[in-house]
Amino acid sequence: MLCAAEASEMGPSAVTQFLALISLTVALDNGMLKTPPMGWMAWERFRCDVDCQDDPENCLGEDLFRDMADRLAEDGWKEVGYEYVIIDDCWMSMLRDEQGRLQPEPSRFPGGIAKLARYIHDRGLKLGIYADMGSHTCMGFPGTTLDKIEIDAQTFASWGVDYLKFDSCYSNPVEQMLGYPLMSKALNATGRPMAYSCSWPVYLGGLPPNVNYSLLGDICHLWRNYYDIQDSWDSVQGIIEWFSNNQDDLQPAAGPGRWNDPDMLIIGNFGLSVDQARSQMALWAIMAAPLIMSNDLRHLDNSARSILQNKMAIAINQDPMGIQGRRLLQAYDVFTGSTVKGLNATTEFTLSINPSGVVMWYIYPEQQSKKAETFEYQHKKASQFTLRKAEPEHHMVL
Ligand code: GLA
Repeated sequence: MLCAAEASEMGPSAVTQFLALISLTVALDNGMLKTPPMGWMAWERFRCDVDCQDDPENCLGEDLFRDMADRLAEDGWKEVGYEYVIIDDCWMSMLRDEQGRLQPEPSRFPGGIAKLARYIHDRGLKLGIYADMGSHTCMGFPGTTLDKIEIDAQTFASWGVDYLKFDSCYSNPVEQMLGYPLMSKALNATGRPMAYSCSWPVYLGGLPPNVNYSLLGDICHLWRNYYDIQDSWDSVQGIIEWFSNNQDDLQPAAGPGRWNDPDMLIIGNFGLSVDQARSQMALWAIMAAPLIMSNDLRHLDNSARSILQNKMAIAINQDPMGIQGRRLLQAYDVFTGSTVKGLNATTEFTLSINPSGVVMWYIYPEQQSKKAETFEYQHKKASQFTLRKAEPEHHMVL
């Protein structure tokens, strides 16, 4: 096993060779997450509230996670597919135990994680946990340095954990390059099937060539690509824009067992109107994104509940083909023959439609826009000179 100091002394070519060796032996194809994961995660709503003295209802302790498990099991969430209860940062004690194992902060998790896992499993649900590839978690709790990867994977397996979110604050790119595949291997070696969520791409800017999405697909089940979501429409819109602008790199990376993760659903909190909440649900469904809510399931209004439990939106998200949707930009008006230009995700437009009339637009995926232009040109030419017709690829007709 390499330690962090040895790893950072390796030159780039040695690191690449080492990584190639690891990736030959690591394929986290344990059959999990053939459709995007669904569940609940503490972070966006409950942050790092560790004050169980003054804020017992909202602090990160075993009661909060038991409450959420109860709600998932009793309020119809489990039936529509939400199954993971995921602990995020701030669950740990500041010190590892004498054997070097991570341990939960005892005042907030007096029963320990294994007991909490049993409680969650007894309700037909699964438990997720958070760790960080680095010296500390983002909030300053003990991190998982390279020498601790194996023991942490074994500890999680021994507790009955089903899902690991592996963050990457306080580490450098070389440690990340070594650590993410090693954790994949270590999780596999425990023999316990665990879903593996990698935050690695965020720390490399989210895009090739820094991010190798084919390697990620081999070692992780899902990965965070972009900045953290916040409780606002601006934040949701920023994420959608970034994913759409970079869809040529991101969209092909997704598929069964390998998902892009635009971050949590914030529906049911304070920042979105009903329409905006529907938009987040719709876009996350189309993007084949993990449907991981971060809200307070104990106090959720009916409109948030019905949006999040919408069976059709969930079925679209859970389509077994696992194809991530793309943003469409160009439209061709079937009857006037003109191209509708300048459409983007936020364009407002007004249409006049005659009584009993119709406006029919033929929508091209963005990558087809060149072909659409060709079609328009040839169509004009055809009407002027010949009967020759260009055949565009038929992707989607609205
Ligand atoms: C990072 C992650 C968040 C959350 C916090 C916890 O910012 O991206 O999702 O896990 O750390 O500190």
